[in-house]
Amino acid sequence: MPQTRRQFLQQVGITGGAGVLYSTMGALGLTTTAETPAFAAPARTDLNGRGKKHIVILGAGIAGLTSAYELGKAGYKVTLLEARQRPGGRNWTVRGGTEEKDLHGNTQRAKFSKGQYMNAGPGRIPQHHVTLDYCRELGVAIEPFVNQNADAYLYREGSTSLSNKAIRHRTAKADVYGYVSELLAKATDQGALDSLLTPTDKEALIGFLSSFGAIGNKAAGFGYTGADGRRGYEVEPGAGLEGGRTAAPYGLSDVLASGVGNYFSFEFGWDQAMMMFQPVGGMDRIPYAFERAIGREKFVYGAKVLGLRNTSTGVSVIYSSGGKPREITADYAICALPPHIAATVPSNLPGEIISALQYARPTNAGKIGIEYGRRWWELDHRIYGGITNSNLDLVNMWYPSTGFHGERGTMIGYYNTGANATAYGALSPAARLERAIAQGIKIHGDGYGKDVKASFSVDWAGTEYSRGSWVGWPSQTDGVYARLLEPTGNIYFAGDHLTHTIAWQHGAMVSARATVTALHSKVMSR
Ligand code: ALA
Repeated sequence: MPQTRRQFLQQVGITGGAGVLYSTMGALGLTTTAETPAFAAPARTDLNGRGKKHIVILGAGIAGLTSAYELGKAGYKVTLLEARQRPGGRNWTVRGGTEEKDLHGNTQRAKFSKGQYMNAGPGRIPQHHVTLDYCRELGVAIEPFVNQNADAYLYREGSTSLSNKAIRHRTAKADVYGYVSELLAKATDQGALDSLLTPTDKEALIGFLSSFGAIGNKAAGFGYTGADGRRGYEVEPGAGLEGGRTAAPYGLSDVLASGVGNYFSFEFGWDQAMMMFQPVGGMDRIPYAFERAIGREKFVYGAKVLGLRNTSTGVSVIYSSGGKPREITADYAICALPPHIAATVPSNLPGEIISALQYARPTNAGKIGIEYGRRWWELDHRIYGGITNSNLDLVNMWYPSTGFHGERGTMIGYYNTGANATAYGALSPAARLERAIAQGIKIHGDGYGKDVKASFSVDWAGTEYSRGSWVGWPSQTDGVYARLLEPTGNIYFAGDHLTHTIAWQHGAMVSARATVTALHSKVMSR
């Protein structure tokens, strides 16, 4: 089935509204874009005379890093315990030499060549996300991420004239918009909407539809012919007398039945609309920049949390380091572990808090990075970045947004979620590549299987210390989730799961900011 925006959001785990505030420039009658929730970072001067409080942070993913960074700036002593040997958590860039053993027992060692990489976790950043503010503050260079490309493909298996072949986005869009405009213009003109529209409204609507859908005028029955060229050409306009030749649109019923129109809402989604960005050189430039700013000496890597307790004076955390259990005590803890993992840590947290952590439902996502020795998508298809979407189990394929016209390039050969991700995850890494190629050839032809130099695949449910791509909540309003928004004694929680921006670094960052604000005001109130 084609993946609709609703299905995507369900997989992402977002069930509520965006919860954003719009500020209206009343006098001008203009609406600005939404504002990131206000954040007054604690200041160094605030703590004067209050002694240096020590905060231990469990997990050096984006929420843990943001917490440590903001607290450190204000003069708190911070210690980060991280089970992995790197910062970032799900923000993970795989390069040549990266080695990972997954929970299925597969060990992969990436053989990507120098300069090639895949972002196994987050890969794109919208303009309005606070993630970009941290990139600016931390000196992480960014470049455009191509989330939408008129010349990328849509591919739908089915039984229509559009099915089982690669259709350019522009072609599908022109036909869908064209026919929808034609139908609506006809209905409007024939009076079907007279109870809703004034004659002036009708004229304005038809005016809009004629440009939106490139349809004919009333005399031409508002017909959509595809002749204006937006759907593409059989013969392109050229020099001299060559005016170009367009093909007739696909038939109305086939266009509707194929489902190609159901993907277009993705490109104007609140978090998915262009412009989007990525750090130059890999998404993990962000965690490493945080690590530098916080101070490498504050991190304990390879530290698996074995116990967490509120004590009469603060907190106690037991963790393993070099195979030995150790204890660290501090004034406060921020638990920035995935909730389903935090729930398994022996602790003296009350049962209702453990139940709230268990209320989170982890879901899955999978990706494969395929390095090619030839940028066939540019050379053979004239596709420069962007995403091909399909109803195959690959779901999405990402062409690289960087290195244009280079010798090599690394595609995301599949990015899928839920059951599709789990089906790929159950295969060996070699079998995942084989399957991805067999499917990708249907869309791109043989080029998809040639010149493959290296590949690396991730199954997030099968990845230790994450055990899922992100979580969903059965409800974020029934009071269970809300228990985690308050501290339990001296233990606070943070993570994208505690926001309405789940599955984005922005969520981890705004959650961390909220937690830092609450913790700081507690300290200031004493
Ligand atoms: N934020 C994730 C994405 O963009 C889910 O794919």
